[in-house]
Amino acid sequence: MNSWYLAILVIVFYEVGFCTAGEIPSVDTKLGTITGLRKTITFLGNDHTVDSYLGIPYAKPPVNERRFQKPEPREPFSEPYQANNFGAACLQFSWFEEITDSSEDCLFLNVYVPNSKPDESGGHAVMLFIHGGGFTLGTGNTYVGETLASVGNIIVITINYRLGLFGFLDLYDEDGPGNFGLWDQHLALQWVNENIAAFGGDNARVTLFGESAGSTAVVLQALYPGNKGLFRSAIAESGAITMPFTVPYNHIKPATYFAESMNCNVENKAEMFQCLQQAPAENVLKVIVDTITEDFSGGSVKVTLNPSVDGEFIKRRPADMYIEAKTEILEEVDFFRSITFMNGINAAEGAVFTIMHADPQNIDSFKVSREQMNNQVMPAAAALAFSFNRTVTDALKQLLLFEYTDWKNPDDPDRIRDQLVRFYSDVFFNVPAMELSRLHANGTNAGSYVYNFRADVGGHLYPTPSWARQTNHGDELGPVFGYNFRYNKILGISTYTPTEKELRLSNKVMTYWSNFAKTRNPNEPKTDSTGKVWPIYTTASQDYLIIDEEDSIGQFMYVRELEFWRKTLPMFFEAIDHKSTVSSSPSSKDGHCEKDGPCN
Ligand SMILES: *[C@@H]1O[C@H](CO)[C@@H](O)[C@H](O)[C@H]1NC(C)=O
Ligand SMILES: *[C@@H]1O[C@H](CO)[C@@H](O)[C@H](O)[C@H]1NC(C)=O
Repeated sequence: MNSWYLAILVIVFYEVGFCTAGEIPSVDTKLGTITGLRKTITFLGNDHTVDSYLGIPYAKPPVNERRFQKPEPREPFSEPYQANNFGAACLQFSWFEEITDSSEDCLFLNVYVPNSKPDESGGHAVMLFIHGGGFTLGTGNTYVGETLASVGNIIVITINYRLGLFGFLDLYDEDGPGNFGLWDQHLALQWVNENIAAFGGDNARVTLFGESAGSTAVVLQALYPGNKGLFRSAIAESGAITMPFTVPYNHIKPATYFAESMNCNVENKAEMFQCLQQAPAENVLKVIVDTITEDFSGGSVKVTLNPSVDGEFIKRRPADMYIEAKTEILEEVDFFRSITFMNGINAAEGAVFTIMHADPQNIDSFKVSREQMNNQVMPAAAALAFSFNRTVTDALKQLLLFEYTDWKNPDDPDRIRDQLVRFYSDVFFNVPAMELSRLHANGTNAGSYVYNFRADVGGHLYPTPSWARQTNHGDELGPVFGYNFRYNKILGISTYTPTEKELRLSNKVMTYWSNFAKTRNPNEPKTDSTGKVWPIYTTASQDYLIIDEEDSIGQFMYVRELEFWRKTLPMFFEAIDHKSTVSSSPSSKDGHCEKDGPCN
């Protein structure tokens, strides 16, 4: 036999570890033996063998007296644990009847292990994904990590964390301190730290990544110094901490809504807590389902609970943190800057929010006239932008219309719609993302990276109107996960067949992401032919990568928008709220100015 042939055989067998699809992989963790599933997947014509360990419980079931408590690590398994099936999703409204088996007992994670030699002797780099869904919906089970794990040659983990009332009840006292869902994520990180070596993982090379509310959660974890040593890098995909409603002022309101709907006494907080804690989970779910079925967008607001300032996980409101960080050393910001941080947004995330103004069934034919924009749509959008906490005066409305009008085509309904998308993109994504990267980049030695994902993709994760002209919220997830998803009614993407072009894009994106997990640098160790060298983002250069069919480098992403929303508008509010005079305004010779008008 020719020696080349032998060498290749050895390499091939080494790569697949002498095991073939169908065999039962097994690992010995501190918690006991866990067995999984082995299969072969094909991506861009290459076969990969990958082991999946599904539905591993990482905490004691958060039920009964453990409802509204921090999660507790679970005891070792008494016999080998067969991790062959996904665990239940956390209790939630079954959007489009996709997730019908959700349960309060839901703290499970899934581990996907490539059956190949790691890039370093310490084991495979690890990526842990936090799913989105507004802290109210979703499950890690949707995002099948097999493709990213095998193409990227890294371990991928997806998790569930408590959602809605169970995840975020905050009564501003020790009974309901809030943020249980964030503590779940933190416990999952500890689980990874203690157990991932048994799966062949390197616990010194853990990266957190997440999308939408999952991205917000990633940032909150990266701002929690108690996570020191549990991960060293983080990727935030389309979700920051100063989006409207992210850390709302009022948590009592949704809690009271639930309590009243279940006939609890809401006059006495201790009794209200007890009643909520003892309520059967089905009753809580029924309140959610009834409320949302009656009025989807209005109802969703009533039953949504978000992270809150609990004094422990989150010490101050994000907007205040930005202000204080200018003059003080904050422990959380110091920790954040010790993490290598990649932050990105898509070209036109706001398309997903136009649903607020249209019947979801007819979103494709949604059009806005100038008259509707001026009198209904902009006032409503502005109220949302300020979390219903500011009167939208005529002057404010006029200022926003001035910014969000295409003055060359002010009356064209298509252009008006595009400007509405721009408005939502800026308010919810672009501005919050850029202020976050500015905060991180200012004084970090760990490296800061920024991307703008602009590729035109055919499969969408979230409902996307046919008229959307640019990349919507969630559109990067197909490429990130190699188009491998479960569920297909909400997520038309799981039945979508990507084109060859999209698979190549996906291969490139998975290369950047897995490089980042391996080396904290998206450019190493592998490069992709349509990629570019991704420059570091600094407060001076503000370089970022534009991810597209062919990548390119951009500079100064959304600087104007950031200036408008974080400097100009606050000054404008300061002026109207305190009726201050504009001292530097040019005055006319006779010193006479019209009220609200120019000087003459
Ligand atoms: C509105 O904002 C102020 C701080 O600017 C805060 O004290 C108040 O609680 C907020 N109200 C609501 C309803 O969010
Ligand atoms: C960087 O931080 C310092 C305070 O530590 C602040 O004065 C400065 O404005 C910040 N620079 C940017 C570009 O954010």
